[in-house]
This record gives sequence, C-alpha cells and structure tokens, in this order.
Amino acid sequence: MPESKLQNAFDMISIQEEAIRLLDANARRGKDYYYTAPSRQKYPHQWSWDSSFHAIVNCHLGRPDLAKEEILTLLYKMSPEGVLPHIVFHGHSLRMLGNRLLRSYWPQSDRSPLVQPPVAALAVREIWEQTEDIGFLNEALPLLNRHFAWLGARRCFGGSPLVSIISPWECGLDHKPGFDEVLGRAVKFPLGRYIALYTAEIRLALRRYDPDQIAQRGYFNVREVIFNTIYALGLEALGVMFDVIGDRMKAESFRTRNREVENAILQECYGAATSLYYDVDVNTGVLISEPSVSSLMPLALANVPESRLETLIMHLTDTSEFWLQFPVPSVPQNSKFFEPQDQRYLWRGPTWINTNWFLANGLRRHGYDELADSISQASRNLVEQFGFWEYYNPLSGEGGGERDFSWSTLAAIM
Ligand code: GLC
Repeated sequence: MPESKLQNAFDMISIQEEAIRLLDANARRGKDYYYTAPSRQKYPHQWSWDSSFHAIVNCHLGRPDLAKEEILTLLYKMSPEGVLPHIVFHGHSLRMLGNRLLRSYWPQSDRSPLVQPPVAALAVREIWEQTEDIGFLNEALPLLNRHFAWLGARRCFGGSPLVSIISPWECGLDHKPGFDEVLGRAVKFPLGRYIALYTAEIRLALRRYDPDQIAQRGYFNVREVIFNTIYALGLEALGVMFDVIGDRMKAESFRTRNREVENAILQECYGAATSLYYDVDVNTGVLISEPSVSSLMPLALANVPESRLETLIMHLTDTSEFWLQFPVPSVPQNSKFFEPQDQRYLWRGPTWINTNWFLANGLRRHGYDELADSISQASRNLVEQFGFWEYYNPLSGEGGGERDFSWSTLAAIM
C-alpha cells in the first residue's frame, strides 16, 4: 500500500476510536432511557435531531444496539397526537427555570412541545440497513408514521404540502439570518435575537402551541428549506421501509407525499434570480431571499433536476460564497451576515459537521463523489486538527461553541 493511503487508513481508525470515546463520555442512562447528550455542559438533555445523528454514527461504528436504544428512547417520548419533541429533559426538568415557568402551558412538562427536523426516520432506515432487524422496524415504523401524519395534518397550511415551523428553533439553525426580518425589530437590540425568540416562545405557550391558533394569529410561520428537505428524505425512507414490512399501501402513500413535497420545494422555495432555495414566510407569502447553507440542501433530494443540481454545485464551489478553506459555512462569505467568529449567535457563518454530512450524502447519491469526498475530507481535517467542536471557523478551522460536541462525530463516518 502506498504510504499516503496507509496514513489515511490509520487516521480513519483513530478518528473512529475518538468518536466512540466521545459518544460514550456524553451518554446518559437512566431507568427508562438511554441517549447521548450533545455536550456535557451546555446541552445535557436529549435533542431530537442530535440524537438521530448520534444513532447514525453509533450504527456505522458497529454499535447498532445503542443506536436502537437512543432512537426508541426518543420515539417513545412522542405525544399521543404525534409531536416528536425537540428536547426531552429526562431527569433534569426541575432544574430548568424557563420550563418551570411555562410548565402549566406545556402539554407535557418533561419535554418541549416544539419539533426538530425529522432525522429520526433516516436513523431508523440506517439501523434497518445495518441490522435487518425486522422486529425493530415493526416497533419504530408506527411511531414514525404517527409523527409524519401529525406533521402533514397539523403543520401544513394554505394547501401547501410543505411543513411550517413555528419557531426558528424547530429547524435547528437557530439564528439563521433569514429569520431576522420575520422576528421583527427586537433583533436590532443587543442580544435581541434571544429576546425575540423567548418572547415568541411565551406567545406560543399562551396558545398552548396549537398550530391552528398560531396560524390564525399570524405568529412566526415559515416553510423552511432544511426542515422540508429532511422531511422529504424522511418520507422517501418511510416509503422504502413500509415496503420492507409488506405494507404496500402505506409505502405508496409515502412515495406520493415524497413527490409532492419535493415538487413543492423545487417550485415554492426556488429563487429564480439566484438559483438558490429560500424559506417562505407563510403570513405574507414572501420568499425570504437570504442565502444560507439551507439554500443548498435541495441538492440532496431524489428528484432534483440535473440543471438545478449543477447551479447549486456552482454556488457550493464558488470561493466567494461557500467554498472556503474549511467548507461548508452556514452563511456564504459574500453575505453581509457572514460572521465566522461570532459566538453570541449560532448559524451565521461557521461550518457545522451535520450540514456537511447532508451535503456530502446528497452529492454522493447524484454521483458527485469527488466533491462529496472533498467535503468529507475537510470535515475530518477539522476534527483531527481541532477536536470535536460544536462548529468551526470556515477560514481558520478554529473550533467554537461547545467542545466535545457529539454530532461532530459524524466526521468519523463520512
Ligand atoms: C443548538 C443548535 C441546534 C441543536 C442544539 C443542541 O441550539 O442550533 O440545532 O439541536 O444546539 O445541540
């Protein structure tokens, strides 16, 4: 074997060992739960999309039993109507002041009434592919079905098949610049984005998070691109998995919904002037033309037309936009909002490993292996040089936010 190949092979092994060490250090086990906290200090609870990423990594690293436990812990915290909570507090709920204050307005006090991108469906498919455990699939699928049914029935407005988020927290890209306008004047004050988010949360609590009331009152209501792309990928995965358990009708209905959602993303969210994808403000019908990494996500869709794919790749590989020293930044460099070092607000410039994982997978499914490999390599370089940080400066590679952040272990399986 040539020496450079040998070197890479060893790097791979050690990054995987490091990933296992970190996931174990951040794992929490109780009487009726098992999950991996995103970090030991700031994020001790179970977050929905984080947990799904952790399960995917564990599965790839030969630990599918831990992956199953983590996903089932999450899925069993779903409400009877089908809300899959954005955060589950497990043993910690009493320590949370905000939770205590709002608790009487929350449907269930040990979990958030918001949701996050449904990566859980992708984690379940991953576990199935690695283990072919039909018992697990039979257990997980009815739960996922309930959640996706709720998203379709309660979170779609005005005849669109696209899901609305009712808080920026729901898409996982908390302070993405495109939300500034929707959040209103408060964002102009110091730490104003936090004030706006918490005020909005109180308004939601007063309406008991009822989607219809929230829509009628014109509160934050946005068809967000990364959320809907992951929703579409989830519908696609459910189509495959219902076929596996022999429920052809359900499989067909998920395939149909997947096509409808994909088409709606490609039509409703497309900004023809820039060939990027943007969120729709449901209250005004306006396309919020503010580019971010979310704008590139539709490249992961099964049915994105080749010409659309090519223009997305042009943006991705443009060195004045997304192709920086350590790609892929959450906001392009030529945006006035690009702040690679800002630690007060999240998702306004730094590179995150989970969005890199989505982009690399999306590129691979369409045959752009070389570009996918470059993103994977850049992600591994970040982790090997700087450690598992929450996010990274795309120009210098320096880590920011929380150290020993769990989902950055995705770099070990890219
Ligand atoms: C931050 C991220 C969000 C993540 C959470 C826990 O709020 O923006 O996406 O789920 O931390 O890691």
